[in-house]
Amino acid sequence: MYPRMNLWTDMKNRDEIGIALLGFGNVGSGTYEVIEENFTSIKEKVGVKIYVKKILVRDLNAGRRVKAPAELLTCNPEDIFKDPSVDIVAELLGGLEPATEYMIRALDSGKHVVSANKAALAANLPQLLDAVERSGRVLRYEAAVCGAIPVMDVIDRALAANKISGISGIVNGTTNYILTRMGEEAADYASVLADAQRLGFAEADPSGDVEGFDAANKLSLLIWQAFGKYIHPDKIARKGITELGLADIDAAALRGNKIKLIAQADDGPEGVEASVAPREVPADSFLGRCAGEYNAVQLDCDMAGPIFLMGKGAGPRPTGSAVVGDIISIARDMRSGV
Ligand code: HSE
Repeated sequence: MYPRMNLWTDMKNRDEIGIALLGFGNVGSGTYEVIEENFTSIKEKVGVKIYVKKILVRDLNAGRRVKAPAELLTCNPEDIFKDPSVDIVAELLGGLEPATEYMIRALDSGKHVVSANKAALAANLPQLLDAVERSGRVLRYEAAVCGAIPVMDVIDRALAANKISGISGIVNGTTNYILTRMGEEAADYASVLADAQRLGFAEADPSGDVEGFDAANKLSLLIWQAFGKYIHPDKIARKGITELGLADIDAAALRGNKIKLIAQADDGPEGVEASVAPREVPADSFLGRCAGEYNAVQLDCDMAGPIFLMGKGAGPRPTGSAVVGDIISIARDMRSGV
């Protein structure tokens, strides 16, 4: 379900792995920081040096949160697809296109692909998996779902012995940050949303967060991972948080509850039922205690019972951590010639 190929014997004995970043916004720059700052410890763990070889940007001269050497920057994606020193392409662009086309180009050019782009992955997963099969390369996307939380890997590996029948969670950091600050400080919606944008939590167009589209994209990917069924995000019932006010949050608090944007899916005899909507949860429950930009996911497993995961769901470094985790996972397999 989470494709793993065994075509890496040609990579044995490599002591250096080349990465290209498509995009250098919040996630691209966070990924770059993780690779640079933890270069030595990653080298010790993986046994290879991981170098960023190229970074695709829209404008060579744009102001940036993180500085990278000018010679790494390019506006031409062909520089990356045709570069034999690039083994893994990290697609961190956001949006459906050209991100989907670039992921497919990268796979067809013999590169492994890591992506944080939940919108493109959820909307175009069937075509992307076709490209994986055709190319014999790997596509991993831990960073696309719940930021730093290793939920995709846990489902794929540690819980592989289980049938998973239910998923419920908080999968969008921006809305959780907004609802938390509205509840704790009676903060005004517009100013907290502006803070979420400044901190690098929100999407380029934050209506993707507050209208629930981002959560629906992530739920679609979780459904695929956990149930092995593909549901296009447009088919998921969706309601955002824009109609909620302080009065709703206060009324819930009087009942001992918090309002959270909950993504929920059940795999029952009638098929998959999935929704994203604001719901009241007990303040002292697992989901009620998930605050700020944190995300939380509960997985209902037939053998393991319920599994609870919580961690930072948004932000450059937490998301960069998941991107680099996927890069390391592929690099390890390349090294060991799995
Ligand atoms: N805008 C997203 C969120 C970023 O707030 O969860 C991480 O996917």
